[in-house]
Amino acid sequence: MQPSARNPERTERYIALIMVLGIAGCIGFGWAYWVNAEPWILGATLGAGALLLGFGVTAWGKYLMPRGPFVEERHDLRGTDVERERFAAAVVQRGGGILGRRPVLAGIAGFGMAAFGVVLAFPLIRSLGPLPKKTLTETDWKYGTYLVDSTGRPIHVDDLAVGGIVTVFPKGYQDTEKGQAVDQSVLIRLSTTPVITQPGREKWGPAGYVAYSKLCTHLGCPVGLYEQQLEQLVCPCHQSMFNVNNGAVPNFGPAPRPLPQLPLFVDGRGYVRARSGFNQPVGPGYWERS
Ligand code: FES
Repeated sequence: MQPSARNPERTERYIALIMVLGIAGCIGFGWAYWVNAEPWILGATLGAGALLLGFGVTAWGKYLMPRGPFVEERHDLRGTDVERERFAAAVVQRGGGILGRRPVLAGIAGFGMAAFGVVLAFPLIRSLGPLPKKTLTETDWKYGTYLVDSTGRPIHVDDLAVGGIVTVFPKGYQDTEKGQAVDQSVLIRLSTTPVITQPGREKWGPAGYVAYSKLCTHLGCPVGLYEQQLEQLVCPCHQSMFNVNNGAVPNFGPAPRPLPQLPLFVDGRGYVRARSGFNQPVGPGYWERS
Protein backbone atom coordinates (compact mmCIF):
# COMPACT_ATOMS: atom_id res chain seq x y z
CA MET A 1 0.00 0.00 0.00
CA GLN A 2 1.46 3.32 -1.02
CA PRO A 3 1.17 6.74 0.66
CA SER A 4 -0.98 9.25 -1.14
CA ALA A 5 1.76 11.89 -1.42
CA ARG A 6 3.50 12.05 -4.78
CA ASN A 7 6.88 12.58 -3.20
CA PRO A 8 6.73 10.94 0.27
CA GLU A 9 10.31 11.85 1.24
CA ARG A 10 9.81 15.54 0.59
CA THR A 11 6.42 15.50 2.32
CA GLU A 12 7.98 13.82 5.33
CA ARG A 13 10.57 16.59 5.56
CA TYR A 14 7.88 19.27 5.43
CA ILE A 15 5.85 17.56 8.11
CA ALA A 16 8.93 17.12 10.30
CA LEU A 17 9.68 20.84 9.93
CA ILE A 18 6.12 21.77 10.89
CA MET A 19 6.21 19.59 14.00
CA VAL A 20 9.61 20.96 15.04
CA LEU A 21 8.12 24.45 14.78
CA GLY A 22 5.22 23.20 16.92
CA ILE A 23 7.65 21.97 19.55
CA ALA A 24 9.35 25.37 19.48
CA GLY A 25 5.94 26.97 20.08
CA CYS A 26 5.33 24.74 23.12
CA ILE A 27 8.75 25.50 24.56
CA GLY A 28 8.13 29.19 23.88
CA PHE A 29 4.90 28.98 25.86
CA GLY A 30 6.75 27.39 28.78
CA TRP A 31 9.34 30.17 28.71
CA ALA A 32 6.65 32.88 28.43
CA TYR A 33 4.72 31.49 31.38
CA TRP A 34 7.86 31.18 33.46
CA VAL A 35 8.83 34.83 32.94
CA ASN A 36 5.22 36.03 33.33
CA ALA A 37 5.06 37.40 29.79
CA GLU A 38 2.14 39.33 28.29
CA PRO A 39 -1.09 37.35 27.82
CA TRP A 40 -0.95 37.71 24.04
CA ILE A 41 2.48 36.07 23.99
CA LEU A 42 1.15 33.19 26.08
CA GLY A 43 -1.79 32.76 23.74
CA ALA A 44 0.30 33.06 20.58
CA THR A 45 2.96 30.55 21.62
CA LEU A 46 0.51 27.99 23.00
CA GLY A 47 -1.79 28.39 20.01
CA ALA A 48 1.04 28.07 17.51
CA GLY A 49 2.49 25.03 19.28
CA ALA A 50 -0.81 23.16 19.46
CA LEU A 51 -1.81 24.15 15.94
CA LEU A 52 1.45 23.14 14.27
CA LEU A 53 1.75 19.86 16.16
CA GLY A 54 -1.84 19.01 15.36
CA PHE A 55 -1.36 20.01 11.72
CA GLY A 56 1.77 17.86 11.46
CA VAL A 57 0.11 14.76 12.88
CA THR A 58 -2.95 15.29 10.67
CA ALA A 59 -0.83 15.76 7.56
CA TRP A 60 1.13 12.66 8.43
CA GLY A 61 -2.06 10.64 8.49
CA LYS A 62 -3.44 12.28 5.36
CA TYR A 63 -0.43 12.25 3.05
CA LEU A 64 1.90 9.53 4.26
CA MET A 65 -0.46 6.77 5.31
CA PRO A 66 -2.04 4.45 2.73
CA ARG A 67 -5.41 5.62 1.49
CA GLY A 68 -8.56 3.54 1.39
CA PRO A 69 -11.03 2.27 0.75
CA PHE A 70 -9.51 -1.12 1.41
CA VAL A 71 -11.40 -4.22 0.48
CA GLU A 72 -10.41 -7.70 1.39
CA GLU A 73 -12.26 -10.87 0.57
CA ARG A 74 -13.32 -12.95 3.49
CA HIS A 75 -10.96 -15.80 4.08
CA ASP A 76 -9.95 -18.17 6.79
CA LEU A 77 -9.06 -16.19 9.89
CA ARG A 78 -6.03 -18.25 10.63
CA GLY A 79 -3.22 -17.92 8.12
CA THR A 80 -1.07 -20.74 7.02
CA ASP A 81 2.13 -21.41 8.89
CA VAL A 82 4.11 -19.97 6.02
CA GLU A 83 2.08 -16.75 6.06
CA ARG A 84 2.49 -16.39 9.84
CA GLU A 85 6.23 -16.79 9.57
CA ARG A 86 6.41 -14.19 6.84
CA PHE A 87 4.36 -11.79 8.92
CA ALA A 88 6.55 -12.26 11.97
CA ALA A 89 9.63 -11.64 9.86
CA ALA A 90 8.11 -8.45 8.44
CA VAL A 91 7.04 -7.03 11.80
CA VAL A 92 9.73 -8.20 14.16
CA GLN A 93 12.86 -8.58 12.10
CA ARG A 94 12.48 -5.73 9.65
CA GLY A 95 10.39 -3.39 11.82
CA GLY A 96 8.01 -3.56 8.94
CA GLY A 97 5.00 -1.81 10.48
CA ILE A 98 3.67 1.26 8.74
CA LEU A 99 4.58 3.43 11.70
CA GLY A 100 8.03 1.90 11.87
CA ARG A 101 8.80 3.09 8.36
CA ARG A 102 8.81 6.70 9.58
CA PRO A 103 11.13 6.66 12.60
CA VAL A 104 12.07 10.33 12.26
CA LEU A 105 8.46 11.51 12.22
CA ALA A 106 7.53 9.14 15.04
CA GLY A 107 10.41 10.45 17.14
CA ILE A 108 9.57 14.10 16.50
CA ALA A 109 5.87 13.52 17.17
CA GLY A 110 6.65 11.71 20.42
CA PHE A 111 9.02 14.46 21.52
CA GLY A 112 6.46 17.09 20.58
CA MET A 113 3.71 15.43 22.63
CA ALA A 114 6.07 15.06 25.58
CA ALA A 115 7.12 18.74 25.37
CA PHE A 116 3.47 19.77 25.09
CA GLY A 117 2.58 17.74 28.20
CA VAL A 118 5.49 19.09 30.22
CA VAL A 119 4.75 22.68 29.24
CA LEU A 120 1.09 22.27 30.18
CA ALA A 121 2.24 21.43 33.69
CA PHE A 122 4.00 24.82 34.01
CA PRO A 123 0.88 26.79 34.98
CA LEU A 124 0.19 24.32 37.76
CA ILE A 125 3.75 24.36 39.09
CA ARG A 126 4.40 28.09 38.78
CA SER A 127 0.97 29.19 40.02
CA LEU A 128 1.21 27.36 43.31
CA GLY A 129 3.14 30.29 44.78
CA PRO A 130 5.80 30.12 47.48
CA LEU A 131 5.92 27.26 49.93
CA PRO A 132 4.04 28.07 53.14
CA LYS A 133 6.90 26.59 55.20
CA LYS A 134 5.99 27.00 58.89
CA THR A 135 3.70 30.00 58.48
CA LEU A 136 0.64 27.76 58.91
CA THR A 137 1.69 26.67 62.37
CA GLU A 138 3.94 29.42 63.72
CA THR A 139 3.41 33.07 64.60
CA ASP A 140 5.84 35.74 65.75
CA TRP A 141 4.94 35.32 69.41
CA LYS A 142 7.68 33.81 71.57
CA TYR A 143 8.97 34.04 75.11
CA GLY A 144 9.43 37.63 76.24
CA THR A 145 7.65 39.32 73.31
CA TYR A 146 6.05 42.62 74.33
CA LEU A 147 2.36 43.03 73.62
CA VAL A 148 1.87 46.34 71.76
CA ASP A 149 -1.18 48.13 70.41
CA SER A 150 -1.63 49.20 66.78
CA THR A 151 0.64 52.24 67.36
CA GLY A 152 3.45 50.09 68.73
CA ARG A 153 2.99 51.18 72.33
CA PRO A 154 3.72 48.37 74.86
CA ILE A 155 0.82 47.40 77.09
CA HIS A 156 1.38 48.14 80.77
CA VAL A 157 -0.43 46.23 83.48
CA ASP A 158 -2.26 49.42 84.51
CA ASP A 159 -3.51 50.23 81.00
CA LEU A 160 -6.81 48.33 81.03
CA ALA A 161 -9.60 48.48 83.57
CA VAL A 162 -11.56 45.31 84.32
CA GLY A 163 -13.72 44.59 81.26
CA GLY A 164 -11.33 46.40 78.92
CA ILE A 165 -10.18 44.90 75.62
CA VAL A 166 -7.53 45.85 73.09
CA THR A 167 -6.12 44.27 69.93
CA VAL A 168 -2.45 43.53 70.39
CA PHE A 169 0.49 42.49 68.22
CA PRO A 170 4.01 41.22 68.86
CA LYS A 171 6.33 44.22 69.23
CA GLY A 172 7.90 45.08 65.86
CA TYR A 173 5.24 43.27 63.83
CA GLN A 174 2.27 45.59 64.32
CA ASP A 175 2.78 47.16 60.88
CA THR A 176 3.59 43.97 59.00
CA GLU A 177 1.24 41.87 56.92
CA LYS A 178 1.82 38.85 59.11
CA GLY A 179 1.40 40.94 62.26
CA GLN A 180 -1.95 42.15 60.99
CA ALA A 181 -2.98 38.62 60.10
CA VAL A 182 -1.94 35.53 62.06
CA ASP A 183 -0.23 37.39 64.93
CA GLN A 184 -3.14 39.61 65.94
CA SER A 185 -4.64 38.84 69.31
CA VAL A 186 -7.17 40.23 71.73
CA LEU A 187 -6.07 41.15 75.23
CA ILE A 188 -8.86 41.28 77.81
CA ARG A 189 -8.77 42.15 81.46
CA LEU A 190 -11.17 39.92 83.36
CA SER A 191 -10.21 40.87 86.93
CA THR A 192 -7.38 42.28 88.99
CA THR A 193 -6.22 38.86 90.17
CA PRO A 194 -4.66 36.03 88.17
CA VAL A 195 -7.09 34.10 85.96
CA ILE A 196 -6.88 30.36 85.33
CA THR A 197 -8.86 29.56 82.19
CA GLN A 198 -8.10 25.81 82.05
CA PRO A 199 -6.22 23.28 84.20
CA GLY A 200 -2.53 23.54 83.37
CA ARG A 201 -2.77 27.26 82.61
CA GLU A 202 -2.19 28.49 86.14
CA LYS A 203 0.40 31.10 85.10
CA TRP A 204 -1.09 32.18 81.79
CA GLY A 205 -3.39 34.96 83.06
CA PRO A 206 -1.45 37.35 85.35
CA ALA A 207 -3.24 40.31 86.97
CA GLY A 208 -6.52 39.25 85.36
CA TYR A 209 -5.24 39.52 81.77
CA VAL A 210 -5.97 36.85 79.16
CA ALA A 211 -4.98 36.92 75.49
CA TYR A 212 -6.41 34.88 72.64
CA SER A 213 -5.84 34.67 68.90
CA LYS A 214 -8.13 37.06 67.07
CA LEU A 215 -8.65 34.65 64.14
CA CYS A 216 -11.90 32.73 64.36
CA THR A 217 -11.38 28.98 64.19
CA HIS A 218 -14.37 28.67 61.86
CA LEU A 219 -13.39 30.65 58.76
CA GLY A 220 -10.83 33.10 60.08
CA CYS A 221 -12.87 36.28 60.62
CA PRO A 222 -11.48 38.67 63.25
CA VAL A 223 -13.16 37.96 66.56
CA GLY A 224 -13.36 41.50 67.87
CA LEU A 225 -16.72 41.86 69.63
CA TYR A 226 -16.59 41.45 73.40
CA GLU A 227 -19.73 40.89 75.44
CA GLN A 228 -18.45 41.92 78.85
CA GLN A 229 -21.43 40.84 80.94
CA LEU A 230 -21.34 37.30 79.54
CA GLU A 231 -17.53 37.24 79.17
CA GLN A 232 -17.94 36.10 75.57
CA LEU A 233 -15.95 36.98 72.49
CA VAL A 234 -18.32 37.07 69.50
CA CYS A 235 -17.37 36.47 65.88
CA PRO A 236 -19.31 38.90 63.66
CA CYS A 237 -19.37 36.56 60.66
CA HIS A 238 -21.44 33.60 61.90
CA GLN A 239 -21.93 34.53 65.53
CA SER A 240 -19.70 31.95 67.16
CA MET A 241 -19.27 32.78 70.84
CA PHE A 242 -16.15 31.95 72.85
CA ASN A 243 -16.07 31.89 76.65
CA VAL A 244 -12.93 33.83 77.58
CA ASN A 245 -13.10 32.67 81.19
CA ASN A 246 -12.98 29.04 80.09
CA GLY A 247 -10.14 28.87 77.56
CA ALA A 248 -12.26 30.48 74.79
CA VAL A 249 -14.15 27.24 74.27
CA PRO A 250 -16.96 27.91 71.74
CA ASN A 251 -20.40 27.56 73.29
CA PHE A 252 -22.43 28.78 70.32
CA GLY A 253 -22.04 28.86 66.55
CA PRO A 254 -20.10 26.84 63.99
CA ALA A 255 -16.55 27.33 65.33
CA PRO A 256 -15.15 23.81 65.87
CA ARG A 257 -12.49 24.53 68.49
CA PRO A 258 -11.36 27.13 71.05
CA LEU A 259 -9.41 30.23 70.17
CA PRO A 260 -5.71 29.51 70.84
CA GLN A 261 -4.57 31.18 74.06
CA LEU A 262 -1.39 33.21 74.42
CA PRO A 263 0.33 32.61 77.79
CA LEU A 264 1.34 35.90 79.49
CA PHE A 265 3.47 37.25 82.27
CA VAL A 266 4.04 40.71 83.72
CA ASP A 267 7.70 41.74 83.85
CA GLY A 268 9.47 43.66 86.62
CA ARG A 269 8.54 47.01 85.07
CA GLY A 270 4.88 46.10 84.78
CA TYR A 271 4.74 45.37 81.04
CA VAL A 272 2.59 42.52 79.79
CA ARG A 273 4.64 40.06 77.75
CA ALA A 274 4.20 36.66 76.12
CA ARG A 275 5.31 33.60 78.01
CA SER A 276 5.49 31.59 74.73
CA GLY A 277 3.67 31.29 71.42
CA PHE A 278 0.03 30.21 71.12
CA ASN A 279 -0.86 26.84 72.56
CA GLN A 280 -2.32 25.75 69.16
CA PRO A 281 -2.07 26.81 65.50
CA VAL A 282 -4.26 29.82 64.84
CA GLY A 283 -7.27 30.15 62.57
CA PRO A 284 -9.10 27.45 60.62
CA GLY A 285 -7.22 24.87 58.59
CA TYR A 286 -5.96 21.35 58.16
CA TRP A 287 -5.18 21.09 61.84
CA GLU A 288 -8.85 21.61 62.66
CA ARG A 289 -9.98 19.20 65.32
CA SER A 290 -13.22 19.02 67.21
S1 FES B 1 -15.88 32.90 60.79
FE1 FES B 1 -16.33 33.07 62.86
S2 FES B 1 -18.14 32.00 63.11
FE2 FES B 1 -17.71 31.81 61.02
